[in-house]
Amino acid sequence: MVALTPQEQAMLGGEEGAAVQKAMELLVRYAEALDAERFVETNNVAGVPGSSTPFVKDYYKADGGDYRAVFSKFDLDADEVVDVPRMNAYSCHLQGGMDPELWAEQGMSAEANANFAADERETAAHGIQILKTCTPYIAGNVPVMGEHCAWMESSAVVFCNSVIGARTNCEGRESTSAAMLAKRVPDWGFHRPEYRYGQYKVNVDVPVDDVFEWGMLGYFVGGAVEDTIPVIDGRIGQQSLIRHKHFGAAAASSGGVEMYHMVGITPEAPTLETAFGPNAPRDTFTYDAAARASIYETLNAVGSSTDVDYVMLGCPHYSIEQIALAAHLIEGRKVSANSAMWVFTSRAVKATADANGYTKILRDAGAFLMTDTCSSISAAVPKGTRVAALDSAKQVHYLPAIMGIEGWYGTTAECIDAACTGKWAGQLASRV
Ligand code: F3S
Repeated sequence: MVALTPQEQAMLGGEEGAAVQKAMELLVRYAEALDAERFVETNNVAGVPGSSTPFVKDYYKADGGDYRAVFSKFDLDADEVVDVPRMNAYSCHLQGGMDPELWAEQGMSAEANANFAADERETAAHGIQILKTCTPYIAGNVPVMGEHCAWMESSAVVFCNSVIGARTNCEGRESTSAAMLAKRVPDWGFHRPEYRYGQYKVNVDVPVDDVFEWGMLGYFVGGAVEDTIPVIDGRIGQQSLIRHKHFGAAAASSGGVEMYHMVGITPEAPTLETAFGPNAPRDTFTYDAAARASIYETLNAVGSSTDVDYVMLGCPHYSIEQIALAAHLIEGRKVSANSAMWVFTSRAVKATADANGYTKILRDAGAFLMTDTCSSISAAVPKGTRVAALDSAKQVHYLPAIMGIEGWYGTTAECIDAACTGKWAGQLASRV
């Protein structure tokens, strides 16, 4: 039975309004399902509150079919429609379904865009920050170590826990929407120190020293440890935000990794002993030359034709450093008439790319810099795409399966070469 503080009892009793009451009711059901004994307070929530397709709105037609109806009945799982006030927690909207300007290029209808814009007005009116990205930590929401958060989006969750040392479980739409109102999440899982220790050891016996290599290592680690906590040790080169971003996204895709330790690198792993705490490693996996070659083969298993129709960059959403590199690599060149190139980022990062002239360099080359979404989330690829080239292990895991297309995994430079030539020529460079 979850114990409630006097303030939580008051919220549950309706003293802070009907919406907060419904949010608390949902959170109590959630806490009891988890067997949590109490709540933790959170003032950092990232979700997709109230946003819905016309189909979902139509489903709630009898209740008014609007944001209020969707938020009450879908997000809060309430049995009645209530007024939804401004959110009480610091709240952010994660990625959405289309670019606010380039939606027609993405194949979206004017009707879908009008629905998207209407939801966004409601989001803003409820005090939710429109970050519209899977990388909130580079677009205006950077938690601090130890901070209790309630985040959705597996790639953001693994970054939040592992790299920042903040604390979040991989929440869902309902729990994040309720947490935005009640500022509470169950004190369970990654919120508790005893569940943050390592469970498996991974020895890295080959040099892993660029984004492409960190992506492959992440994919290997996720496949090996599934949804447990790995402790990675060995020949890992300099860390960077981008390398962690790609590593974590890959590990969360091939497995369900929500937290990892890298010895001497991540904040809760100054030593191997600290990373494991009271746990004994259940097993040890080794990432060596053979494992690296095998992961490369797996990631390229859905590639057959070398005629590339589409290059997608920006999974997770590109940082400004990655956009600068893409602009540098394509400046003075042109995307092949047989191909297309879309690069995805957040609105905040795009504003910097605009100011630096990178958006124009990409556009002049025939590529688009898009925001808010990605091809997997929106199921949008250029018309007629049969073969895609991707510099993200996460995206090559999902996009070919979602769209029924072929996919290649390679470096950013190989992908941009493919966009400009229409041909895939990627190779696993041997450096071991
Ligand atoms: Fe982001 Fe889409 Fe990848 S939402 S993490 S770019 S699958």
